[in-house]
Amino acid sequence: MSSQIAIQKVSQPKPKPNQAELGFGHFFTDHMFIMDYTAGQGWHDPRIVPYGPIEVEPSVMVFHYGQATFEGLKAYNTVDGRILLFRPYANAERLNVSNERLCIPPIDPNFTVEAIKSLVEFEKNWIPAGEGNSLYIRPFVIATDPYLGVKPADTYKFFIVLSPVGAYYPEGINPVKIYVESNYVRAVKGGLGFTKTAGNYAASLKAQEEAKEKGFTQVLWLDGIEKKYIEEVGTMNVFFKIDGEVVTPSLEGSILAGITRDSTIKLLKSWNVPVNERRISIEELYVAHDQGKLEEAFGTGTAAVISPIGELNYNGRTISINGGKTGDLSSKIYHTITGIQNGSVADTFNWTVEVK
Ligand code: COI
Repeated sequence: MSSQIAIQKVSQPKPKPNQAELGFGHFFTDHMFIMDYTAGQGWHDPRIVPYGPIEVEPSVMVFHYGQATFEGLKAYNTVDGRILLFRPYANAERLNVSNERLCIPPIDPNFTVEAIKSLVEFEKNWIPAGEGNSLYIRPFVIATDPYLGVKPADTYKFFIVLSPVGAYYPEGINPVKIYVESNYVRAVKGGLGFTKTAGNYAASLKAQEEAKEKGFTQVLWLDGIEKKYIEEVGTMNVFFKIDGEVVTPSLEGSILAGITRDSTIKLLKSWNVPVNERRISIEELYVAHDQGKLEEAFGTGTAAVISPIGELNYNGRTISINGGKTGDLSSKIYHTITGIQNGSVADTFNWTVEVK
């Protein structure tokens, strides 16, 4: 693979969106990155081109059999005028974990990060100002053979698109209300639950819509076999502070190994806060609440950062957590991670990578 990235510039840049109306995922920058894969040749022709429609045949395999993987990370403007990425090598490596499971050829993680850096540097004027705003980076791979037999494709395209974003949830850092899903399931061990693939999100939509109709922001998934153990929230991993100890579901193959999850665990350990990755049942959580031991709950994710959970509803019973307010620990983790990302907190873990 050549690391020579060809560049084709737009003739007319688009106007930038208003900071106040960013939301999440509505706007896209002027350019995108594309690279092709052909069996026998490998990944080739990396290029930055104007963002816009792509032409593929209706028979391309991704539309039919869902061979699609993606990642999500962000670029931040720092308080001292630098541009930082947060743990991009972790995303590049996780993309290959997903690719491996979906029979998609791997991409050299160093090249993925180089491509991200090149595109972000090229589009740096699109990184929005304003607290909590950033440039969301969406690398993704799709199968592009025009073919209707079921098998791994022989051709793929790797894209990176960029979207200036604000908070993922309208609640921002304020607590969200979560519906504990006891009917639909998201994933089972041995399936695709640990990957970032389109189908996992397709599987989540119906439950999410039904929860929204009931007034909840998101769904908390239980394990797919016993519907007993807590897994993850649709777009986040989940943490609970119970009697002074932080508990998060262990990675057993059906949930995503979140990078914000991992960063949170590392921060807690560095602060000597007890943290335990283990199976936790929804019953145990409700008992802890009834005993007055459930102190905080929060979700972690790239898009959502740290999202406090103020209310849970399981089988018709609603519990309020920390009086529906953001807890001290959730707030400390949020401010530390966003501080490292915007350069206002020392990056003692060497998590950030500068774009220059
Ligand atoms: C992320 O947090 O980056 C995600 O990919 C979650 C969601 C927006 C799909």
